[in-house]
Amino acid sequence: MDQYSIDEIIERNDIIDVISSYIPLKKTGSNFKARCPFHDEKTASFVVSPKKQIYKCFGCGKGGNVITFVQEFEKISFPEALRKLASRAGITIKQTLQNKGKDSKRDLIYKINELTALFFHKNLIEHGSSALEYLAERSISDNTIKKFRLGFALNSFGGLHNYLLKNNINEKILASTGLFTSNNNDLFRERIMFPIHSSAGKVVAFGGRKLHDEQSGGKYVNSPTTDIYTKGNELYGLFETKYTISKKDNALICEGYTDFLRLYENGFTNSVASLGTSLTDSQISLLSRFSENIYMLYDGDSSGRKAAVRAAGKILGKGCNVKIVGFPKTDDPDSFIRNNGVEKMQELIENAKPIAQFLLDDNVIDVDKKGKLSVLFDILNDMEDEVAQELLSQDIAETFGLSGHAVASKIRKKRRSRKQEIETTEIPQMEQFREERNIILLILNNLSLYKKVAQEIDLSYFLTEKYKEIYKIILEHKENMDNIPALISKIDKENIRNILTELSMLEPPVQTIDDAIIALKTRKLHSDLAALNAKILNDPKNMDLFNKKQELKKEILKINKKVVRRTLY
Ligand code: CTP
Ligand code: MN
Repeated sequence: MDQYSIDEIIERNDIIDVISSYIPLKKTGSNFKARCPFHDEKTASFVVSPKKQIYKCFGCGKGGNVITFVQEFEKISFPEALRKLASRAGITIKQTLQNKGKDSKRDLIYKINELTALFFHKNLIEHGSSALEYLAERSISDNTIKKFRLGFALNSFGGLHNYLLKNNINEKILASTGLFTSNNNDLFRERIMFPIHSSAGKVVAFGGRKLHDEQSGGKYVNSPTTDIYTKGNELYGLFETKYTISKKDNALICEGYTDFLRLYENGFTNSVASLGTSLTDSQISLLSRFSENIYMLYDGDSSGRKAAVRAAGKILGKGCNVKIVGFPKTDDPDSFIRNNGVEKMQELIENAKPIAQFLLDDNVIDVDKKGKLSVLFDILNDMEDEVAQELLSQDIAETFGLSGHAVASKIRKKRRSRKQEIETTEIPQMEQFREERNIILLILNNLSLYKKVAQEIDLSYFLTEKYKEIYKIILEHKENMDNIPALISKIDKENIRNILTELSMLEPPVQTIDDAIIALKTRKLHSDLAALNAKILNDPKNMDLFNKKQELKKEILKINKKVVRRTLY
């Protein structure tokens, strides 16, 4: 793949179009903003510049061009991201790229998971009569089975193992896939298989449900943590429902696979399942990229309700809105819809309550009013966000008929002191090398300036590591440096890319390039002079050093004259 086609791919995929197909962007001035998809945050520090065609998060530092975005968001390799963007723009990539891009370990695990999902699905359709019966009994439709690629793991210790080997998968990688036990046996046996997709749509893990109660093992067996899967980081179904969630601007969270599928089948296509009862912060931030209005649809029993309340507290703490749907004690979304139908489900969602009201009205969790308040005060005290805390305080006061003062007195002061700690430790760094920085900013703002700079300034002028690295890249790529996004594609090191995007986002100094060059030269000459003086002190009779010093002084004079001339005219 030559640089020409990479440039073409960058050019033909507008960064705003591409990024906004993943996360909602809001226009602010000439840029677009969003909550950063790469780290957990409440305020939008992620900036995309349509003019520069780059993105930068001023919170976590990540930055890059349209290709690196797709690569990092989808957790795929550079060649894969190129392929994806090429096809999006209708560009055909030459065959060479397909073979050249060596699969990373993660890519390989993705590939194995994909093969495995196919294998399980095929098993279900071709050899899974008992499993199909089970699914039919639970009235899960063929359509749903296809869409969510449900499968079946046969009662076999080596079926999957053999199948993968037959597909030319190297045996050595299998232990890292989480699909096998420590004795190389298939982990999932005689189970209905639910592939878990990342929000970008790749299979990252599996959950397997047993068919009969008398079967050994837990109700569900789940993939362990792997290089591509961290439990509590994914939401089941999101890859399919994220667009609807975004469009409707609200999301329903249920506990389990079957709840999700039932909801989805009945038209609640803005749902996800958290796959367990404790919703994690990372799941909340993932979901809140698509909508900040969340409904909890956890099981109606005491533990489901408690979990819903805990989750709702976390959601509020993240600055999102949340309501809890109250199911009867013996129902979950799956059974409720089957027993009562879609309309009743719709009604129940419409009657969802904010956390305080839900708790006040609850008569399933076995606590009195005092206990309920103490649950709410704990949530209040766990909140980091003061606005969220204030809102919940008001809600508690109104709902429980307390004075604002009474609620406020329950907020312990620990938060404030922790914040102060953070503030005092974050001393802003002094800008010590303004001359180096100015040169870089000017070049990044107008790439054609590099020629002039390169004639006069070499790497030795840069003493600050990060500016030196960037300048090195500029020198190395001076032949084909049309624009920043293209330059970014040539940078392998992520930290350098992050610095480059940060500098590219900044306004250049009000200074001509000539002045910036002179300033950098002067700075360099003075530091050389200081170094030389130190040497002369150690070796006073060395004439070489002396002559060098004279030369340096002349140069400094010369430059000073230039400066005087420039400021006169
Ligand atoms: N879960 C799990 N391991 C278990 C039990 C539950 O991983 N031993 C997770 C599963 O993701 C499950 C979710 O928690 O979907 C909710 O659990 P539960 O309500 O027990 O299961 P359901 O999804 O309701 O399953 P079913 O309707 O098939 O009984
Ligand atoms: Mn359940």
